[in-house]
Amino acid sequence: MDIAVLGMGRMGRALAGRLLESGHRVAVWNRSKDKAGEIVSQGGREADSIVDAVDGVDVAITMLANDHAVREVALGELRSAIAHKTIYVDCSTVSPALSGELAEAFPGRFLAVPVVGSPLAVRAGQAVYLAGGNGDLIDRLAPALSSLSSTVRRYDTASLALAAKVTNNLLLLSQVISLAEAFTVGRSGGLSDDQLRELLSSSPLLPQGLKNRFEGVLTGSQDPWWTTVLGAKDAGLAIDIARGADVDLPQATVVQQLYEKAAAEGLDDADISAVTQLYQDGTP
Ligand SMILES: NC(=O)c1ccc[n+]([C@@H]2O[C@H](COP(=O)([O-])OP(=O)(O)OC[C@H]3O[C@@H](n4cnc5c(N)ncnc54)[C@H](OP(=O)(O)O)[C@@H]3O)[C@@H](O)[C@H]2O)c1
Repeated sequence: MDIAVLGMGRMGRALAGRLLESGHRVAVWNRSKDKAGEIVSQGGREADSIVDAVDGVDVAITMLANDHAVREVALGELRSAIAHKTIYVDCSTVSPALSGELAEAFPGRFLAVPVVGSPLAVRAGQAVYLAGGNGDLIDRLAPALSSLSSTVRRYDTASLALAAKVTNNLLLLSQVISLAEAFTVGRSGGLSDDQLRELLSSSPLLPQGLKNRFEGVLTGSQDPWWTTVLGAKDAGLAIDIARGADVDLPQATVVQQLYEKAAAEGLDDADISAVTQLYQDGTP
């Protein structure tokens, strides 16, 4: 397929790279320049503008930071540039409300397909894609989706796919904080890092997603993967969804504050695991 990927952050580059490896023709665009080098060297085409990127493509994908970014791009230049035959797919993690607006703004040709998995998992074809929208449209996207992953879950609407994505994210965001606090208790009681590893690294209490971050939380690794800024944003999305049903989430509120604090203290481009540094500094 001919595909445009708008947004060359960590996830956009991973998506574009995977699509190129799978034999699709890929044009890419990013707001700031010089982010697409590795994609161009893989055979992608860097477009000068959104209009240029989506010219003649079968599918236009946005993979952008947050609601504000997707609103600016999708409801701005993309809406007037996109051809009628082109399917528009937003893979960003945004609010269900915005995905509902996009479904209305691009009638009959919009899908929300948020992604569960890291940039590395996307590159390896191991991420899970949550496809929300019209089933026939999801079928039309099959050549692209099947080269991205063998695991595609379907939802009847875009908003439901986003609710599923945010539900998943809140769980991991909270678990990372719980792990950081468990390490803090162990260390405060005199346990060494090796003893904490021995006690917990293969504990049945840890799900695989948390095991993937075990060393990062133990050591405070900053290796950017899913940044504290995006983590705080996703906790906020979770709080808003529950608030829409008149339910408060006291734990999620603390989780959001902790990632916001980490971001404000210079860890904005660090992985969510780095939240553990707040505890090491004694300042959570
Ligand atoms: N990283 C993960 O593990 C992961 C996993 C699943 C889902 N996600 C979701 O995937 C999305 C992208 O994440 P990421 O890790 O790729 O983030 P990222 O590396 O921080 O990249 C963010 C992208 O958004 C663009 N952007 C931000 N504001 C913009 C605006 N106002 N107008 C146009 N472009 C704008 C950035 O452009 P510039 O380069 O110009 O700043 C960049 O291309 C997010 O919604 C995130 O929650 C991430």
